[in-house]
Amino acid sequence: MTPAYDEAWFASRATPGVRGLRAYDPGHDVVALRARHGAALAELGSNENPYGPSPRARRAMQDALELAHRYPDPRGAALKHALASLHGIDAGSIVLGNGSHELLMLLAQVFAGPGDAVAYPRYGFAVFALAAQAAGALAQVAAALLSQGPMPHGHDLEALRGVIDDRTRLVYLANPNNPTGTWLEHDALDAFLDDVPAEVLVVVDEAYAELADAPGYRSMLPRVPRRPNLVVTRTFSKAYGLAGLRCGYAVAAPGLVAVMERVRESFNVNGPALAACAAAVQDQPWVERVRAENSRQRDALAGALRARGLGVGPSQTNFLLVEFGDATPEVEARLLERGVVLRPMAGYGLGRYSRITVGTADENARLLRALDKVRA
Ligand SMILES: Cc1ncc(COP(=O)(O)O)c(C=O)c1O
Repeated sequence: MTPAYDEAWFASRATPGVRGLRAYDPGHDVVALRARHGAALAELGSNENPYGPSPRARRAMQDALELAHRYPDPRGAALKHALASLHGIDAGSIVLGNGSHELLMLLAQVFAGPGDAVAYPRYGFAVFALAAQAAGALAQVAAALLSQGPMPHGHDLEALRGVIDDRTRLVYLANPNNPTGTWLEHDALDAFLDDVPAEVLVVVDEAYAELADAPGYRSMLPRVPRRPNLVVTRTFSKAYGLAGLRCGYAVAAPGLVAVMERVRESFNVNGPALAACAAAVQDQPWVERVRAENSRQRDALAGALRARGLGVGPSQTNFLLVEFGDATPEVEARLLERGVVLRPMAGYGLGRYSRITVGTADENARLLRALDKVRA
């Protein structure tokens, strides 16, 4: 009999990990929403940076278009050099990715397979589960914190340590975390790293690190040279305002980087992205301005939402997790009608909450005005 050649048939031919996967759900058709609402659309669903990139990065990407007919530098040497000098590390400890998403997936592909396990916290970044499953590894999901004030979703390091066993190859956690916005104190995370068996790799996803300014928060990047089982991932999609160019990086022991390089697609980061990111790294005052403005707007928005009686989680990112309770789907749908896009959280098992990106002062004001009408 001729096969049906439909999705079910092809899935049956896929590797066991891929068989059970579902494709990424983008949530909304933002292209259609932009066409409908134009400049009035408040895009608060994807944790992008509303201020965009440094002007130096814009110029660099435009100049790089002159070389669009050439392959980009497969080693990304100029960008690695800029990052090495920013962080005071060796360029050989950096691997570049087409977004940090690619690197998170690659880490599982390289270091975990069928018979291995990958540990990560409940309400951790969605890609952790995807990476483990696509690699065909067993997922070890640690319970979330239940005692952190009104928003009980932060990472519980004790629970995470508890799920690690001799099958565990890789541990993922994000600090600060998406979608909760919560963060871990540096000393607590350092103690956790001390406690993890030395042969288990720990990936600390720091996509929002440049936006964090809490006194107890510190990046794990300076720890990498002394912790060969630690991998830190960063992205240009958030504080640097370059989400559309797709570029991220991982910092790890040079030996680990060398193994990742065996499977990294040679030209995974395109020329304009390499040029723009190298220029962006050299404009740290821009990043500082973004961080300061984001913190100001985050505090103001959180205050305004709390003043309306809503539960708002603590956040060291550019988004807030907000509790609308039973009304969540209706609030989201009615805001969307008014051109305000939020991120529904049902896919994370947090259906009583919405994730709201902190926008500009003007976007946040539009959100609040629309919210008042919707909830009246
Ligand atoms: C915690 C976290 N890690 C990684 C990423 C992926 O970022 P990118 O692939 O754009 O570098 C995101 C994106 O939202 C994120 O929230």
